[in-house]
Formats: sequence, C-alpha cells, structure tokens
Amino acid sequence: MVGGCDEAASPEVDGLELDIEAAEEVVGPMAYDEDLDDYVAVGDYDEGKVLNYIKGKHLFEKETFDGNGRTCVTCHTRETGKLSPDEIQALWDEDPSHPIFRALDSDEGLGASYDRLRTMGTIRVGVDLPDNVTLVDDPNQRKVVFNRGIPSTLDTPALDPVLMYDGRQPDLASQANGAIHDHAAPGREPSAEELDLIAAFQQTFSFYSSIRTFIYAKGGPAPHLPQGKTESEKRGREWFVDSPTGLCSHCHSGPMLNQTNEFLFLPLAPGSRFVSVAVSEFNTPQNPVYTFAFANPEDPNDPILVQSADPGRALITGDPADANTFKIPSLRGLSKRGGPYFHDASAKTLEDVTDHYAAYFALPPANLVLTEQEKADITAYMKLL
Ligand code: HEC
Ligand code: HEC
Repeated sequence: MVGGCDEAASPEVDGLELDIEAAEEVVGPMAYDEDLDDYVAVGDYDEGKVLNYIKGKHLFEKETFDGNGRTCVTCHTRETGKLSPDEIQALWDEDPSHPIFRALDSDEGLGASYDRLRTMGTIRVGVDLPDNVTLVDDPNQRKVVFNRGIPSTLDTPALDPVLMYDGRQPDLASQANGAIHDHAAPGREPSAEELDLIAAFQQTFSFYSSIRTFIYAKGGPAPHLPQGKTESEKRGREWFVDSPTGLCSHCHSGPMLNQTNEFLFLPLAPGSRFVSVAVSEFNTPQNPVYTFAFANPEDPNDPILVQSADPGRALITGDPADANTFKIPSLRGLSKRGGPYFHDASAKTLEDVTDHYAAYFALPPANLVLTEQEKADITAYMKLL
C-alpha cells in the first residue's frame, strides 16, 4: 500500500477533537499571539519571524500591487481558503463594486453582468497553449481561457508540491506571481522577497484544515483514516481503505488522499497525481467546447484532435494522452473547505460529488451501479475527512 493510513503508526493523533496540546507534543511549546492572530512555536519565536509573519499577512490580505483592488484574500478567505458562490452572491447583494467583481471575470469580459461568477463561483483562467497545440477554429490564438473553480488554500501550500488543477506552477512563489498578474492587474511588479513572504505566510498555522495536517506538516505522523462512529460512516470508510474493492482509494490514497495506489485499473504507477474522472467529459456547467489540434509526430498533416471544455494537464505536457486529466486533490478537511468541488466547480455539495461518481462508475470499465445506501455512506464518510 502507498501508506499513511496505518492505524498503529499514529495512535496519538486520533480524531478531529485534537487540540493545541497534541500539536505541542510534536512541535514543542506553542503560544497564541493576539497580534499575529496565530499560534507560534515558542522556540521559533524570534523577532525576524514575527516581522515576516506580519509582512506576509499584509501581502496576502491587503496588498493590491497598485492593481484592481484584489488581494489573495478576495478569493481565498481565511476560514475556508476559498470563496463559495453563496458568499459571492452575498457580496454582490452588499456591494456590487467589491473587488471580486472585476470585468476580467464577468460574463462577456466587459463588466456588464456577473451571472456565472454569482451562480458557479468560477474565475476566468488563461492558459498558454504549448508549441505543439493550436485551436482549430482560431489558429493564431496562443492562449485559451477556462472557467475554473477556486481551490482552497488550506493544507495545499505546505503539503502539496503539485500546484493548480493542471499542475502548471512549479512552486508557491511562482504561483503567487502568476496569481497577482492573472487576477489583480498589478500596477507594479511584486519583488522576489514579497513572493517568498506570501509563500511562507501560507504555511502558518491557520492555513491547515485541522491540527492533524498541521502536525503532519511539522514532521509528525501522517493523518490516518478516521474510524467513523455510525454504521453508515463505517461502511463509507471501506471505499477509502487501500484494497481492490476500496474504489475511492484507487486515486485517493496516501497521507493526503491525493495519489493513486496499486489497485487502480489504469496503467499508472502508484503515487500518480493526474487522472480523469470525466468532469470535463460530462461538462455539466456547459462551458464552451474547443477543438484542440495536437501535432502528430508521425504525420504532420494529420494532427490529433481533442474536443474539450478544458483538457487540463494536456495543455501543460503537450501530450494528447493527458486530455481531461486533472490533479487528484487532497480530501483532507473537505467539510471545512466547503463546496463547490471539482475544477469546474460543478459539484456544489458533497452529495453532488457522490452523484458524479455514481455516474462515473456506471461507465465502463467499472459498470457499477451504486445503491442509495452506498451513496449515503460515501457522503457521510467524506464529511469526516
Ligand atoms: C480572482 C480570484 C483569485 C485571486 C485574487 C487569487 N486566487 Fe489563488 N486561485 C484562484 C483560482 C481560480 C485558482 C485555480 C486556478 C487553476 O488551477 O487554473 C487558484 C489557485 C491557487 C493556489 C493553488 C491551489 C491548488 O489546489 O493547487 C494557490 C496556492 C493560490 N491560488 C494562492 C493565491 C495567492 C497567494 C493569491 C494572492 C497573491 C491568490 N491565490 C489570488 C483564484 C484566485
Ligand atoms: C480514477 C481516479 C479517481 C477515483 C477512483 C476517485 N477520484 Fe475523486 N478525484 C479524482 C480527480 C482526478 C479529481 C479532480 C477532478 C477534476 O476536478 O476534474 C477528484 C476530485 C474529487 C473530489 C473534489 C475535491 C475538491 O476539493 O474539489 C472529491 C470530494 C472526491 N474526488 C471524492 C472521491 C470519492 C468519494 C471517490 C469514490 C467514490 C473518488 N473520489 C474516486 C480522482 C479519482
């Protein structure tokens, strides 16, 4: 097995009710600092660190880089690490000039209406086409814009080296630079020091979904699979136990439940991070569908055509075999992060996620029909992660 779910390995880290004392057993004495609004390891508490923390917090929450008024916290709230369609609608009711409502994320790009943003909560994300790919209907276009959901900044900065739904950013500093340019129309360039401060700030205490992932990030034991209390939760757990029949575990394995294991039916090495679960294929939000032409190394006159609303990883690798594959996201703290889920924000709730998987497993090669009881069990268990 890929590991991480071994009960015996982490007896002291059992359940979500863990408090700061359990963390202290791993990282040493911690103190809550009111000015910092954060826990700080006492051994780590030197003036330089505190200053960097204050600077990082300012950069994440307040700094606009002389741009359109947006900051990181405009889209990544301090509570859930993301921003739901309900929250966006509430902001609209309160103040339609709020920085989330900027023309670049409006329906037609001109700022006239924001229906997509208010109902789906998706952001317009531009991806450069690799050299070997063109758009059939617009051959000179080198960039395509997709409607993508806002992923949570909980856990990911410290615990996932793969950044973005298509894995296109190599590290946090580069990611922050991209975010500032893509979303905030900056009037000045961020400095390398500022980007590093943003990266470091995103790894402080309040950026973890629970004390369990915090302890893990600090070198403590990996979080395991909660046992579940009700019969339904206990049955739901079986889907996540590494085994041929634990279907969710085939892709949601390892400590963060974000990598494949050896039971997956696809020819992918255990530990793989990119697969398709037919989210782009189903295209439930009815995003525009494009035809991409990938150069055919065997015959330049016969390109490989891919039709998709968002081919994901394939536009980073340039390999049509990666079409519609996306990063397998961590499932830790799912209920704390809240919906919507998937790269196109098509599942508003965890119930919707289960419905999606019921439709996906009904396809070949699984050809499996989930019962209502099984669906309820899976949903109940996801809420414990
Ligand atoms: C307008 C909304 C918006 C703003 C502002 C914004 N982000 Fe994001 N963020 C997104 C979206 C959308 C994605 C996913 C895009 C993709 O994968 O193509 C994302 C992805 C991320 C990720 C990767 C998460 C993952 O699961 O891989 C991190 C980290 C992140 N943002 C941090 C930041 C930081 C730091 C800032 C400020 C410098 C920022 N974001 C500003 C919308 C926003
Ligand atoms: C074949 C691999 C695979 C299997 C099997 C699988 N998943 Fe996933 N899961 C993924 C991928 C890839 C994504 C991202 C898909 C996207 O956004 O297009 C994902 C996304 C999710 C998300 C959304 C998380 C978020 O933050 O947006 C949840 C929840 C989830 N899966 C739960 C499950 C459950 C429950 C099962 C079993 C019923 C399961 N998965 C089975 C690969 C898989």
